[in-house]
Amino acid sequence: MSEIQHMRHGSSIGQPVTRRDGVLKVTGQARYAADNHPSGMLHAVLAVSRIARGRVAFLDIQSARAHPGVVEVMVTANRPALALHPDDKSVPFSFSMDLLQDDRVRYAGQPIAVVIAETLEAATEAAALLAPRYEAEPVEVTLDAAGAFVPESVGVGAPAEMWHGDVEAGLAAAAQRIEATYETPLQFHNAMEPHCVVAAWDGDALSLDLPTQGLALTQMRLAALLGIRMEDLHIRSPFLGGGFGSKLLTGPQVLGILAARLVGWPVKLVLTRAQMYGPVSHRSPTRQTLRLGAAQDGALVAIHHHVRTATSRFDEFLEPSAGVSQAVYAAPAIAITNEAVRLDTGTPGFMRAPGLASGSIALESAIDELADSCGMDPLDFRLKNYAEVEPVSGKPFSSKALRECYAEGAAHFGWAGRPLAPRRMRDADGLLVGWGVGTATFPAHMFQAEARAVLRRDGSGLMESGTHDMGQGAWTAFAQIAADSLGLGLDRLEFRAGHSDLPNAGIAGGSAHTASAGGAIHAAGGQAIARLAELALADPRSPLFGAGNVGVVARGGRLLRRDDENRGESYADILARAGLDMVEGRGSAAADAAATERYAMHAHGAVFAEVKVDPELGQIRATRLVGAFAAGRVINPRLVRSQYYGGMIWGLSFALHERAAMDPRTGRIMNTDLAEYHVPVNADVPSVEAILVEEQDPHVNALGIKGVGEIGITGTAGAIANAVWHATGVRIRHFPIAIEQTS
Ligand code: MOS
Repeated sequence: MSEIQHMRHGSSIGQPVTRRDGVLKVTGQARYAADNHPSGMLHAVLAVSRIARGRVAFLDIQSARAHPGVVEVMVTANRPALALHPDDKSVPFSFSMDLLQDDRVRYAGQPIAVVIAETLEAATEAAALLAPRYEAEPVEVTLDAAGAFVPESVGVGAPAEMWHGDVEAGLAAAAQRIEATYETPLQFHNAMEPHCVVAAWDGDALSLDLPTQGLALTQMRLAALLGIRMEDLHIRSPFLGGGFGSKLLTGPQVLGILAARLVGWPVKLVLTRAQMYGPVSHRSPTRQTLRLGAAQDGALVAIHHHVRTATSRFDEFLEPSAGVSQAVYAAPAIAITNEAVRLDTGTPGFMRAPGLASGSIALESAIDELADSCGMDPLDFRLKNYAEVEPVSGKPFSSKALRECYAEGAAHFGWAGRPLAPRRMRDADGLLVGWGVGTATFPAHMFQAEARAVLRRDGSGLMESGTHDMGQGAWTAFAQIAADSLGLGLDRLEFRAGHSDLPNAGIAGGSAHTASAGGAIHAAGGQAIARLAELALADPRSPLFGAGNVGVVARGGRLLRRDDENRGESYADILARAGLDMVEGRGSAAADAAATERYAMHAHGAVFAEVKVDPELGQIRATRLVGAFAAGRVINPRLVRSQYYGGMIWGLSFALHERAAMDPRTGRIMNTDLAEYHVPVNADVPSVEAILVEEQDPHVNALGIKGVGEIGITGTAGAIANAVWHATGVRIRHFPIAIEQTS
């Protein structure tokens, strides 16, 4: 239906088109990386360390190699050489890898050998025969570890310390103040598709089926690491079974590539679910102390957000949790400070709204606590402290419809009439009912991206950009932008993506893929149309001849005079007359430095949560989530809504479910499977609604897109925590909130 509607209105953007790859996926036709089986392919299985620190003293390689079906066992001694050390950082955006470079063990779950066999079963059995012996050393794996240091930066270069105004004076003079410490847990990546690779060498050329959120980034890093030319490395990544940040970087999959080099046959390596709890990054735990002060009327006078977090012993990624406090609420004095410890774990990394998710849960909880101290409704308190300009920088927002988000969300949820005091509402079954609110926010980034457009003589169009579909519907949204940029119906557009041979589409990360690659696509299409228009306008045989001053519009495969849309001609006619098979356009997009300097750019939202708590058992259920979000232009409301649902469910997961349980004596994760590492299932998510709040942003980028991938998690976790307090009167500051904490 949507395609027909599109034809009628001449625009794909804004239509709730269903996923172009939907039928492929639900019929099992979509080929994911590990579905590829080149002929002669062997199976590789990782053996991973059971200790977190020390060295591997012995591996029974003989027994493993003697196992029927085993082709080779790859260990440090026979691992093919690399052109760079796995800890080398000379390629931008590099993190350390563990590629059997020596016998050291740096964390539990680190790869220590690779078995290559004719079948997965043989490789798996032989890996168990390696029976490693270790020389173990004592480990430190909790935030209480000694040796805390003040980092230079957190996240990807954000300042670790920032003081704005006089926080101490503000707190001293405040009529109401709170100081509270919140703890968020260690979390691991659990995309449905684990990290995997199918690697096939042909001399020094390498072709990979490798799910990645950054084709060009991965190509650059791997080519340098392997010592091959970029143009000899071909990466296919048409679909990902989820990424969530973990597939921005490539780690243990390199062992599959090296295994293929070693044995001279294509090799497939798929991490097991348990092996995802080690070498592919994670979200580190945080301990966050918020000190807030408010004047008599509820106006914030000071915010101090201090974070203690952790990185690995050998590399640095620090969850940038405090950054959120610079961007959301107005206060004359704001400070953020950080400290960190080094642990015997893998290196943390990008995971679902890095920093903002964990920071927002603390900030939103603290704001709620202060609202209560002030005797104010938590929504009124947030409105009282509404930031009209970005708090610390003082920059105007490029656009900000947060007030509308609060209003539309509250109206839809039915917030009015919420009793101020906790433990006042019960449902018909006697369950305690609580309502909470949280503010959602995520910066609007733009990354470098490129695209190529072609208009063909048969009137069809082609758009090429090496974009990534992690399941979010990128294939569809980009095709919509492409179709509009070329003035074609979606049915006349071929969209090629998911391959490193295509123009560099940047990364699918930072919630910026649609804006960045979409901007490049929009520009490429515009250039192809401009070239076509030049041909027509200069040709006395064209009905568009001389229309240069009034301009032309491209629609439905035709160029039309802007002042008289009955005068025009088809692309096919223009190309045929010019004797051309096609015209081409190229486009790129990147952050606009001048606009970024001038404006603060963020998406915003308000999430309202209802929970029910069993007064006897303490069992908690989130029964309703309503999120209202303003994120600039909506390319496809169906897909955008789906992104918000996903984000809110992550928030629910953060508040009530997810936690990796690490044994502090061994540094091993004890719940390395989806039975015990809890993420929400359908029964945990009774009702989720997303409201798309209208917002036009003329500054953020050419298409006015802010990005919707991660914002949903940010308000939600806090809203649920606040609802739990409202239901029970118990303020829980340790996440995920557990049944034993509610009474
Ligand atoms: Mo996101 S954590 O930038 O994939």
